[in-house]
Amino acid sequence: MSVPSLADLTVRARLGLTAVTLALLVAGCGQQAGETETAEASAPPIVVERQEGYKALGASFKLINDQLKSGSPDMAQIAPAAERMHDLAQQIPNWFPAGSGPQDGVKTDALETVWTNPEGFAAAQQRLVGATTELQQLAAAGDVAGLQAHVRVVGASCGGCHDNFRAEQ
Ligand code: HEC
Repeated sequence: MSVPSLADLTVRARLGLTAVTLALLVAGCGQQAGETETAEASAPPIVVERQEGYKALGASFKLINDQLKSGSPDMAQIAPAAERMHDLAQQIPNWFPAGSGPQDGVKTDALETVWTNPEGFAAAQQRLVGATTELQQLAAAGDVAGLQAHVRVVGASCGGCHDNFRAEQ
């Protein structure tokens, strides 16, 4: 782990990590930090990052769906949202390092299967990458009917992963 900036430290401190936990995290000893009560009570930064990433994915998808349901879908809004979804989909593999699952005492909706079935998880992630690639192409072509049909495929790729890798909501 690189030496965190003062801004990082401030953010982590705001997340409620104690100085001891912080020191362990900085030393790259996340596992040991997990043994302290404080670390179990507060989400590790990567869990916050991935949950924020998924929220952004959901927000972009909602924007696209809302636009498509409106009388006059605005491609100037849909195209960048599709690009953002594609970017985020490609980042998913970075969001699940060892030590950040429920089996490590971390509070998360991710299931242990993310780590025990990495091939299945990667396949589910790739399905979303593929679906969002096509979403971008349809947006670039201004193909409203195509987009309306394809958002169902995108939605199914979200659900396909959630069914196997996320705790039931
Ligand atoms: C490859 C697997 C995978 C795919 C694909 C996927 N998700 Fe998720 N999603 C997860 C996991 C795992 C979590 C739980 C993360 C956690 O709690 O640490 C999650 C959590 C979420 C959350 C809750 C975030 C929070 O904590 O507030 C939202 C919203 C979400 N996903 C939306 C989506 C949308 C929308 C799509 C499709 C466009 C999608 N996801 C595709 C695996 C996936």
